[in-house]
Amino acid sequence: MSQQFSLFARMGKDLPLSILHELTCELKVSRVMTTEITTLPSTASMQEVKELLRSHRISGIPIVDEETLVGVVSVEDLILALEQHALDTPVSRFMTPQVLTAHPEEPVFEALKQLERQGIGRLLVLDEDGKLAGILTKGDIMLGLLGALQQAYDRVERLGRERQPRYFFEALVSDETSLILSYHVRPNDFTQGGRASAQVKKALLQIGATPQLSRRVAIAAYEAEINLIIHTDDGGHIVVKIQPEKITVVAHDTGPGIANVELARQPGYTTASETAREMGFGAGMGLTNIERCTDEMHIWSAIGSGTRIEMIFYVPPEESA
Ligand SMILES: Nc1ncnc2c1ncn2[C@@H]1O[C@H](COP(=O)(O)OP(=O)(O)OP(=O)(O)O)[C@@H](O)[C@H]1O
Ligand SMILES: [Mg+2]
Repeated sequence: MSQQFSLFARMGKDLPLSILHELTCELKVSRVMTTEITTLPSTASMQEVKELLRSHRISGIPIVDEETLVGVVSVEDLILALEQHALDTPVSRFMTPQVLTAHPEEPVFEALKQLERQGIGRLLVLDEDGKLAGILTKGDIMLGLLGALQQAYDRVERLGRERQPRYFFEALVSDETSLILSYHVRPNDFTQGGRASAQVKKALLQIGATPQLSRRVAIAAYEAEINLIIHTDDGGHIVVKIQPEKITVVAHDTGPGIANVELARQPGYTTASETAREMGFGAGMGLTNIERCTDEMHIWSAIGSGTRIEMIFYVPPEESA
């Protein structure tokens, strides 16, 4: 356990923005300390200390005289008393009078630093009047942090379930704006093939489109992107316009154009080069695949001037709501 805690302390130092660091700064000592405290007066014998430590399975006892903390006695002190056969002597002889304390309103992070620095297992928590309010051990901090982490996780998960999927589409509705994503696709650059469509998919998922819709858009955009790579001389652009009710993907280029669009749309028709075929393209199925994924597909093309393919996807009402 102590090793894990020095890890926490190190995380606090090296990664100042880690969630654990944030939580240890936010969490107050009073939230995690143990308030059920077993105490003894300084007149109690070491024999009583031994019995109390064993019966309560604890490792230290605060010594309190008339509501004032006067020291703390630990297992180590008991071992010393046992070695000296001094179990009948009063606790005041073996206790440590200088007690390290914490304040209930102090952040757990400060208390943790003190525990680490002093190499001790517990801090006694004193309230404003100097009265004992609780005990803070590393175990208490661990449990408190786990609870706080769980709460933070639940919050994020709830947010993700309830709000995120509709979040951006709602924003689009209220602003009546659209979001435009634009990508340049280079010719013959197979190493970058699929980069634009992968980014489109990521963006759609991030703004809350369903995985199904995001996948349909991404597949169609991918086929159009590869066509720009393998069939054009100068590459082209993929432009995605996201509106509350529909997503429009346009792939356009400036050449060489398609001689017979109707023919090109037929499954299996291809003019792909030998190189492209060797790379696994050229089955003549790209446009067919786009048609399958879209709600509407329009192609304009002219030899020598270029090709424009428009792909429309309607956003199901429950998604844009
Ligand atoms: N942007 C474009 N510019 C010029 N020709 C194109 C363009 N896109 C498609 N074509 C023509 O249309 C044909 C059919 O395209 P499609 O995407 O269906 O198949 P493919 O690209 O040949 O093979 P696959 O997509 O299965 O790898 C292409 O072979 C090509 O002749
Ligand atoms: Mg193709």
